[in-house]
Amino acid sequence: MTASPKTAPPPDWDRSGLPAWSFFSAEMLELEKEVLFRSHWQAVCHSNDIPNAGDFVTLDFVGERALILRGQDGEVRAFHNLCRHRGSRVVAESSGTCRSAIVCPFHGWAYNLDGTLRGAAQPATLPSLDPVKMGLKPLEMDIWNGFVFVRFKPGPQPSVSEVMARFAPELAQYDLADMVPDGKGFWTTEITANWKCVRDVDNEGYHVPMAHPGLADLFGSNYYDEPFSNGTSRSFSKFSASNGRLWSVRNYKAIMEPPAALDDDHKDAWLYIGMFPNLVFGIYPDSVIFYQEFPLANGKTIQRGATYRHKDEDRRMRLARYLSMRIDRLTSKEDEQLIEWTWEAAFSSGYDGVVLSDLEYGVKTYHDALRRLFPVLSSDEPPAGTLAQQNAALLSAKVPAE
Ligand code: FES
Ligand SMILES: [Fe+2]
Repeated sequence: MTASPKTAPPPDWDRSGLPAWSFFSAEMLELEKEVLFRSHWQAVCHSNDIPNAGDFVTLDFVGERALILRGQDGEVRAFHNLCRHRGSRVVAESSGTCRSAIVCPFHGWAYNLDGTLRGAAQPATLPSLDPVKMGLKPLEMDIWNGFVFVRFKPGPQPSVSEVMARFAPELAQYDLADMVPDGKGFWTTEITANWKCVRDVDNEGYHVPMAHPGLADLFGSNYYDEPFSNGTSRSFSKFSASNGRLWSVRNYKAIMEPPAALDDDHKDAWLYIGMFPNLVFGIYPDSVIFYQEFPLANGKTIQRGATYRHKDEDRRMRLARYLSMRIDRLTSKEDEQLIEWTWEAAFSSGYDGVVLSDLEYGVKTYHDALRRLFPVLSSDEPPAGTLAQQNAALLSAKVPAE
C-alpha cells in the first residue's frame, strides 16, 4: 500500500518534529493543562447517553471534574462535579441516574436536577444558603450533532459547530445527533507515554500499511490524511476492492449494507475527523466512535472513548458494527505499543529527533498549531522555573497576523 498525501506538502518543510524536552518537561505539561485542556472544548458524552431526567455522565481530566446532567425539564446541563459544602464529588460514578435530586455522599447536601441547592443536611447548623448562589457551579457547554462538550476556561476556539463547520455538508448524511450508545459505556486505557506521543502516532497514516494489518486490508492504498487546518484534520479511506484476507475484514466487507442516506463516496468508507487538541471522531457506515486523551502525569496518559450505533439498527448492521469494532480494537492496541516506543525513544542517549515523511505532514501541521500557542517549543528547554514566562514573552512579541 503506497498512500499518497491528498495535498502535497510544500518543498523544504521542517521535518524535525517537537523537541525531545517537550515530552518530559513538567513545566510544559502544566502549561498544556491550562492552555490546551482547560481552555479548549472537551467532549464528554452524547446527549443520548443521558436520555432521561436524572441521567448523568462525569469526566475527570487535569484536576477538573465535569458533570453532565439531564434535568426534569429535559435540558442537558454541565456543572463542576464539586459539592459547594466541602468540595466532595456530588456523584461518584462515571455514569448513572439519580432520582429527583443529587445527594452529596459526604454530608448529604441535596441538589435539584437543575443544579440549584435543594437543601443542606441539618440546615439549622448553617447560615441560610441561597439555592442559586450555592448551587452546583455551571460549566460552559456546547452540543454539536448530539455530542456534549465542556470547557473549563474561556479559550481561542469559537463554538464547536464553528470549529467543525467545514465538515457540515459531509456529515449531514450521517445521523450523528440521533445515534445511541452501544451499551458498553466509556472505555479507558492507560498509556505509558506523554499525551503528545498519542497525537504524533495518530496524526499520520504512514504507519498504516506496516503496523495495522486490519486497516491495510480494509483500505488497500485508498487511505489519505489531510493536514491540520484551523483546528481540525480529516482522514478518509474508501474500502479497497479486494474481499479482504483477514476474517474480520472479509466478513465486514461482505456483511456491510450501508444506510441509504450515504452517498457513493461514503457508503463504503471510513472517515476520521480530528479536533484540536485531543479528539478524534471515527465515522463509519455502521457506527460512530470518538476517542480522546488526557495527561494524568508526566509519562502517563489516559485514553477514553465510546461507540454509538444507529437507533434502528437491524441484525446485519449490528454484526457489521461488531466487526468494525474488532478491527478498531486491534488498531488501538497496535497504536498503544507504537506510542509507548515513541515515548521511550526520547530518553535514549542515541535519540536524534525525527525525520518526517511527506505522509506525516499531518504531524507537522498539528505541531504548528501547538507552536502557535507555545512558541517556546521552537527553542531549547528554558531554564527551570521560566517556561511559562518565556512562552508568554514570546507570544506577546509575536506578530498577531499569523
Ligand atoms: S461535601 Fe458535600 S455535603 Fe459536605
Ligand atoms: Fe495507528
